[in-house]
Amino acid sequence: LASIRVDVSGVEEGTQITVKWRGKPVFIRRRTQDEIDAANEVDPSGLPDPLARNENIDAGAPATDNNRALAPAGAEGKAAEEWLVMMGVCTHLGCVPLGDGAGDFGGWFCPCHGSHYDTAGRIRKGPAPQNLPVPTAAFDGETEIVLG
Ligand code: FES
Repeated sequence: LASIRVDVSGVEEGTQITVKWRGKPVFIRRRTQDEIDAANEVDPSGLPDPLARNENIDAGAPATDNNRALAPAGAEGKAAEEWLVMMGVCTHLGCVPLGDGAGDFGGWFCPCHGSHYDTAGRIRKGPAPQNLPVPTAAFDGETEIVLG
């Protein structure tokens, strides 16, 4: 299946883009420090879905913010934490969640049946059973993301 390359150089902090990949939306968000801090305050073991759901790491890895974010090689500090790449498909019945701080946890909200995702895309409230999945993805340099 095809990979695609996405230029994220124009994505400002606190905004996101949606790209289509393999027929599905993928959210790419450049998070603010506040969003990152909020995500890090959470103990993943107490979440509805405690697993990272990240194709790029071990299937049993916990849903820490670090295990959900995507970092350019060699990035440090905020640059290593700010990017979140995940499928824009609600894990309940597949609607496309609303973003840009939507929902009770400042992340994403699925209006179909009321699922609230946090600033790391983790399910916090509502019927969705799993965190929004992180697809196979990697940075190529600092401004290009390869999906697949
Ligand atoms: Fe998202 Fe049901 S499809 S809450």
